[in-house]
Formats: sequence, C-alpha cells, structure tokens
Amino acid sequence: MNVSFNKTKILLIVVILCGALAAGAVALPNPLKDYVVREAKAAGYVEYEPMEAYKMANTICTQCHTNERIKMYCPRCGPPFVAVVPHMQAFIDNYKVTKPDLEITNITEAQAVAIVQVWNALVGNWESDFREQDILKLIGGYRQLAALYKTPVAQRRIETALVGREDLKIGHMSALAEMQKNLGKPQPAPVEPPAAPMDHSGHEHGHEEHAHDQHSGHQH
Ligand code: HEC
Repeated sequence: MNVSFNKTKILLIVVILCGALAAGAVALPNPLKDYVVREAKAAGYVEYEPMEAYKMANTICTQCHTNERIKMYCPRCGPPFVAVVPHMQAFIDNYKVTKPDLEITNITEAQAVAIVQVWNALVGNWESDFREQDILKLIGGYRQLAALYKTPVAQRRIETALVGREDLKIGHMSALAEMQKNLGKPQPAPVEPPAAPMDHSGHEHGHEEHAHDQHSGHQH
C-alpha cells in the first residue's frame, strides 16, 4: 500500500518534471543555474538588475552598520559613494585579518559598481562637486569603479532606473519631491450652486426644517 503510494508519487513527480522540461521551464538544474548566474553577475559578466542591486546594496552595506549611516551621508560629509565603497572594502579586508571570527561578505568590483549606483540614486550623487584627481586617487586600483566614474550618469543603467524611485529614496534628498511639490496658488473656493429641492437631508437638517416651516408659514 505504502510502496504503491510512493510509486505513484514518484511517477507524478517524473510526469511533472517532464512537463516542466517540455514547457521549457527547466526545473531540475535551476539551483545550479541560479548559482552560475549569481557568480557570473558577481564577476561582472552579467549586469545586475536595478532592484537586485538595491537588495544587494542593502544586504552588503548593512553588515557592519545600519543603513542609517548611509542615509546620513551627504556632500558635506565626504567624497561621493564611488570613492566611499573602496574605503568600505578596505574595512572588510581589515576585519578579515583582525576579526577572523566575523563572517563578512566581500564586495566584488562588479558588485561595487552596482552598489555605488544604488546609493547615488537613492541618497545622492555629488561626484561633480569633487576634483577628478581626488576621486580617482581614492578609487585607487579599482579600474571598473574608475570606469563607472567616467561614465556619464545618464548612461548608468542602474542609477538611472532607480533615480526616479521616490519610494525607495533615503537620505538628505529623500524629501525633495515633496519639497518641490507645487500645487499652485490657492484659488477662490468654487461658488456653491443653489441648493437643489431634494437636498434637504444634510447635517443642518433641523435648521433646514425650521427655515422650511417659516417659508411655508409665510406662504399660507
Ligand atoms: C566591514 C564593515 C563595513 C562594511 C561591510 C561597510 N561599512 Fe561603511 N563603515 C564601516 C566603518 C567601520 C565606518 C566608520 C568609519 C569611520 O568612522 O571612520 C563606516 C562608515 C560609513 C559611512 C560614513 C562615512 C562618514 O564619513 O561619515 C558611510 C557613508 C558608509 N560607511 C557607507 C557604506 C556603504 C555604502 C557600504 C556598502 C558598500 C558599507 N558602508 C559597508 C564599516 C563598514
């Protein structure tokens, strides 16, 4: 009984698998496929999707401090994110040596390229406020980050995709849309149309009744 039930179950799974394979939704190698895609993205062979980069930035950058620290960051606080992320990688390298018990995920350069764009879009991009040579010096040997810095913002796919996401924004720019909201000048209130004969059931019911009584009394 049990055996035949298991057989049925296995048969069912095989049938479903075959169906999935036939439909092109390859079910079995998916974990492997996910792994390969993830590694390919981390290595820079495949670009991150904007929301994927957003999630990654929020995971990787909150390993040692909350994103409150990123939220508070501003043009007056220091160099732009393209120069901050290498600095954070230096902390990671340091912790790996000095605090080997901590499990801290490394940032690959391809991930850094995506993460910089996320914070640029959601907190702010003040790359143009700083001298190119200073920024490049801070970026150091990270060639992909240097290339990102040289890429016009309009051509940065993740940054341009997220820059309009007011709902995701944090930091000193996050209230910008609200601050710039322009509802126009106050207008005179529209003139009330004369009360329709049926409109006698409002909250001023008692008063209306009274007026009506007076009115009818006058007429009679
Ligand atoms: C290995 C731990 C670690 C990780 C991971 C990390 N940070 Fe930091 N971060 C620090 C430390 C430590 C400081 C404080 C540095 C200081 O006070 O000089 C800091 C400070 C900051 C500051 C404030 C700098 C300032 O001058 O006020 C910002 C912004 C920041 N981190 C952004 C990020 C971003 C973005 C990421 C993700 C790419 C990240 N951090 C990931 C350790 C980390």
